[in-house]
Amino acid sequence: MEDRHIPPIILSFPLRRFFENPYKILTPFVRRGMTVVDHGCGPGFYTIPLSYLVGKEGIVYAVDSSAKSIKVLESKLKKKGINNVKTFVSRNLNFIPSASIDFLLSKDVLCCTVLHKELAREIERVLKPGGKALVTIRIGKRSDPRSLSAEEFFSLFTNIERKGLSRFHAWVILSGEKK
Ligand SMILES: C[S@@+](CC[C@H](N)C(=O)[O-])C[C@H]1O[C@@H](n2cnc3c(N)ncnc32)[C@H](O)[C@@H]1O
Repeated sequence: MEDRHIPPIILSFPLRRFFENPYKILTPFVRRGMTVVDHGCGPGFYTIPLSYLVGKEGIVYAVDSSAKSIKVLESKLKKKGINNVKTFVSRNLNFIPSASIDFLLSKDVLCCTVLHKELAREIERVLKPGGKALVTIRIGKRSDPRSLSAEEFFSLFTNIERKGLSRFHAWVILSGEKK
């Protein structure tokens, strides 16, 4: 089954900032110079704040399976003169080396694909020892094979540091395994 692609215009909706502040969500995790991933970045609602937070010594890998979203993101990056973001059209994270990432954000992506186990494994694989990931899902309709219940979502991961559940969302903070 195909990934669910949300039109870039919806994800870039200007009022979104009023009820979802990317800096408030990212600041506890991201420092200058970090190597970070925006998994399922869409048109970049989180990618651009990530690029400012890591600064010019840092790097952001922005990955989405939708070529259309990546194109919209690339034109925003060009307009803003941002050059610490590398964009990838991909359904997986196989191209990222193991234990290389300080922070990974996967915001409402695992609920848009059937690749739940594969992506959960990849997210944990790429984290540095002590690196962090914030992974969220929207709780969806049971009839859609892409959707997950909170219990199914939590059971995908082995290194959960914290987890939570609200009416519409479930989230986990993962910690890269210290060898
Ligand atoms: C609900 S949107 C969230 C976008 C972005 N994280 C945000 O919060 O603005 C989900 C995104 O995940 C992307 N996506 C779905 N399946 C994916 C996969 N297997 N790999 C990478 N991206 C995927 C979709 O194209 C879409 O842009």
